[in-house]
Amino acid sequence: MKKRSFSIFTMLIVTVLSFVRCSQPAEVSNIHPLTKSWEIAVPNQEVPKGLFSLSAEDCGSCHTQHYQEWKMSTHAHAWTDLQFQAELKKESSPIMCINCHIPLQNQQEYFVDGYVDGDIYQPVKRLNPKFDRDLQQEGINCASCHVRDGAVIGTTGSTKAPHKTVKDPKFLSETLCISCHNAVAVVTPTLACSFETGDEWKAGPYYGQQNCISCHMDTIQREWMVGYGEKLSHRHYFPGSGIPKIDTVKTMMKNGFAFYPSLLEKKYSLSDSIFFKLKIKNEFAGHKVPTGDPERFFIIHFALTNKNGDIVSENEYRIGEHWQWHPAVKKIEDNNLLPNEERDFLFSYLPKKKGKYYLNVSVTKHRMDEKAAEYNNLGNEYPRFIPVFEKQYPILVEKE
Ligand code: HEC
Ligand code: HEC
Ligand code: HEC
Ligand code: HEC
Ligand code: HEC
Repeated sequence: MKKRSFSIFTMLIVTVLSFVRCSQPAEVSNIHPLTKSWEIAVPNQEVPKGLFSLSAEDCGSCHTQHYQEWKMSTHAHAWTDLQFQAELKKESSPIMCINCHIPLQNQQEYFVDGYVDGDIYQPVKRLNPKFDRDLQQEGINCASCHVRDGAVIGTTGSTKAPHKTVKDPKFLSETLCISCHNAVAVVTPTLACSFETGDEWKAGPYYGQQNCISCHMDTIQREWMVGYGEKLSHRHYFPGSGIPKIDTVKTMMKNGFAFYPSLLEKKYSLSDSIFFKLKIKNEFAGHKVPTGDPERFFIIHFALTNKNGDIVSENEYRIGEHWQWHPAVKKIEDNNLLPNEERDFLFSYLPKKKGKYYLNVSVTKHRMDEKAAEYNNLGNEYPRFIPVFEKQYPILVEKE
């Protein structure tokens, strides 16, 4: 069960490679080139004219609010995150893991030219003279999304900017988000990559209406830099699941789910079943909930307690994926809720005694289960889940 935490990966490199094998001269045929977008870093970038560096901190000296928001985002923690670092250190993690977490070549110590015999654990590496360790700490920083070919990419082509600016709204669209938030691949038989947020969105009702940016980057009128006048701007918190990562990221976003508890009778007689229905609807997300990392799940828990607080009956439901890791990685189940899909969760109990009861209903959203947290030595402080619905209903069972 050692590989279970690499929920992230699995794939058909083999087909691609056999093609390559045929088209290469014999003496170099044992080094296989990289083919997938996420196997390749964004090439080393030059500092755009008018700027000192590529670092987010320096962008932040002028774009103070953008910087403060970004710093609280998970993007800013994509490298330093404890779970990521724990997983990366394992032998079973291939080097390609880093390409969506520190996407610029400047953030990576080595160039990777290919894999020996197509083995992802034998990368052909060269030292990168432009490697910048401080930039690496910033994870997905401003330059990851905004700097290409010596220019800052924007959507207006602002001529007031003191740095070289290029207008490219197509580049700075949801296509950019999807380049990292959608990857389905089997890397080795026990390592799978499965983020389908982009495909889920494209297949759903929001396609053509709202996209990653309109939902995850709220708009607001404000100055892009002090003294330049207010205009339309985008928040840079990139809130998502809302499950924080240690003291840093506290995101603020509506849950994807809306909760509709069925009305309960307040009084029951002994011959009546106590019956309760919680309808859950994916009302606000443009993709499945949960989406992305297959380790995420929700628990819906019902517990009926008596007046002393003892549990007399309880049951539990789970929304999430189930994967098999051995002998070969495979998705066995996925009951994540599609956009606008709704599902009923039921509780019923036939009371055996008169008296006062309480029905406690809770829904919690989980980043990972306890075993995965333990396996990665994340400690007790690492936030694994948050409550998203909690209610207690008093019930009286009085007549025979
Ligand atoms: C010395 C101050 C300064 C620094 C440092 C700076 N910017 Fe700017 N930037 C500006 C100003 C001023 C504007 C134009 C503001 C306006 O038009 O309201 C601007 C505009 C932009 C725009 C909008 C361009 C468009 O065409 O819509 C983006 C995006 C941007 N900057 C990103 C960055 C990034 C990323 C960095 C760091 C790599 C950075 N800036 C560093 C001052 C700065
Ligand atoms: C994950 C990608 C991503 C990262 C990281 C990112 N931005 Fe942006 N940024 C965008 C997108 C997308 C837009 C909005 C494009 C549009 O106009 O629709 C934007 C817009 C901007 C603008 C134009 C004004 C506005 O608010 O719309 C500025 C300035 C800017 N970003 C600065 C920064 C700075 C500074 C950082 C780092 C602290 C940063 N960005 C990090 C994707 C990113
Ligand atoms: C270079 C790859 C990359 C790009 C481009 C990118 N992301 Fe991300 N995104 C990530 C990674 C990696 C994480 C997870 C970081 C972590 O948990 O440590 C993440 C996290 C997120 C989260 C938070 C998930 C949560 O758990 O709360 C949201 C929301 C998000 N991204 C939205 C976007 C949007 C919107 C865009 C486009 C404007 C975008 N991303 C562009 C790689 C990327
Ligand atoms: C209609 C609005 C909407 C659109 C469109 C949308 N999202 Fe989301 N997204 C949400 C909401 C709401 C959540 C919070 C779900 C929850 O409760 O966990 C979320 C959660 C996430 C998460 C965190 C994972 C999770 O299970 O919570 C990521 C990552 C993410 N979105 C990325 C994207 C990307 C990438 C796109 C574009 C392909 C996108 N979103 C489009 C509303 C949207
Ligand atoms: C195709 C781009 C991509 C690659 C390659 C990639 N990741 Fe990620 N990673 C993401 C995105 C996007 C997220 C955020 C997913 C979400 O929140 O839904 C993420 C999130 C994570 C998280 C945080 C999970 C959480 O619950 O917050 C960890 C840990 C992680 N990745 C580890 C890895 C490891 C280990 C590898 C290599 C086996 C890897 N990643 C390769 C895109 C990638």
